[in-house]
Amino acid sequence: MIKASDFGSDFIWGVATAAAQIEGTASQYGKGPSIWDTFTAKSGKIKRNHKLDPACDFYHRYTEDVALVKLLGFKVFRFSIAWSRILPAGRGEVNQEGIRFYHNLIDECLTQGITPYITLYHWDLPQALEDEGGWTSFSINAAFNAFVSICALEYGDKVKNWIVLNEPFGYTSLGYMLGVHAPGKTGLSNFFPAVLHTALAQADGGKILRAEVANANIGTTFSCSEIIPYTQSDNDILAAKRVDTLMNRLFVEPAQGLGFPTADWDVLEKFQIEYGTWRLQERMKFDFDFIGLQNYFPLTIKYNAFIPVIQAWEVKAKGRKKPHTSMGWEINADSFYNIIKQFAGYPNIKNLMITENGAAYHDKITNGNIVDAERIDYFKLYLKAVLKAKNEGINVTGYMAWTLMDNFEWAEGFNARFGLVYTDFHTLKRTIKYSGYWWQEFLGN
Ligand code: GAL
Repeated sequence: MIKASDFGSDFIWGVATAAAQIEGTASQYGKGPSIWDTFTAKSGKIKRNHKLDPACDFYHRYTEDVALVKLLGFKVFRFSIAWSRILPAGRGEVNQEGIRFYHNLIDECLTQGITPYITLYHWDLPQALEDEGGWTSFSINAAFNAFVSICALEYGDKVKNWIVLNEPFGYTSLGYMLGVHAPGKTGLSNFFPAVLHTALAQADGGKILRAEVANANIGTTFSCSEIIPYTQSDNDILAAKRVDTLMNRLFVEPAQGLGFPTADWDVLEKFQIEYGTWRLQERMKFDFDFIGLQNYFPLTIKYNAFIPVIQAWEVKAKGRKKPHTSMGWEINADSFYNIIKQFAGYPNIKNLMITENGAAYHDKITNGNIVDAERIDYFKLYLKAVLKAKNEGINVTGYMAWTLMDNFEWAEGFNARFGLVYTDFHTLKRTIKYSGYWWQEFLGN
């Protein structure tokens, strides 16, 4: 049986959340609208038209929720700052109530002996900045840098662990290429400028934190998926390489000073030329103290000439009769190990942390209990993969489960339950799931 002590006494155990998914009070206490407030207001974009507010009402219940983090045995709480709570218009006037809220939250963590890890950007861009073009616009970088400075100066004495961006590929692809996430933009003409400005923000943010926060531990996160060719045909192998370039390499390589990974995909080569990105290679570089990996599924990829640009197609887990979660995401812990190894292969990465990993299931309360045995099995399997990597000498220093409690799962609304704690979205009552108790025992509390 796997034990927390197998990972060593320095290993960091945490649980992760994000502001937009839990806070609620979207237009209260001086908060400006974010792109997710706007996006959810448009009908048809979110399953069952769920609205963001009140989500888990974390804004009013953070004391109780930090106590839950502690009760489950985690030593780290990862949360994000809602940019438009600090700067309602994205830049300029600061909302003191917002500033106070995060001070209170940080203080609560510290009082309860929980170390806060702050994510600066977890997808909730101020709508006022989106009105100027959002991540597609060059003006985003100065605004982001000012926001980072404010947070660093305000909280840097108390908070030493910082994450600049959450999954840059996630929001640039889903929000600016496929249009299924906020702000709902589509096409390469939005995607590529968003990628460029994001890669700049990633490094700029790191540099600002380094300058403003003494003894900071600075990271950023990447979504990652092992990309498996469907067959060993040249076409499938090349298609898998293109997807790998896009999903796994696009943002981590510029951070290391390698520029965008143009070699395996001519479309990126054209992007590099059109936007002159090689001139910005130095600015996109930052020596992160840790790299956060977030893994939910591998992808099996087949060549398909009819798919524009990428000419690749996912062969879903369900069709291949593979075990999967309620999101349809394949459960495959070997692929988790393989992708950790892939990232560990970059000579400049010093330290890897798993900053998100978890699974959604159709949880139900029966006689007051949520018996989510599948989720417990999932964690056991995935933790074994982390341990295997660690025992082979890969410097994995922590693991954060996604997520504390069921919350607003972006385009899925409240239908996808990832929490260790069950949220009743009518009463907002929290009930610890069996997986939550499993963690409590695992972490020795
Ligand atoms: C990640 C994201 C989280 C959460 C999770 C589960 O990509 O960072 O906010 O939604 O996926 O889907």
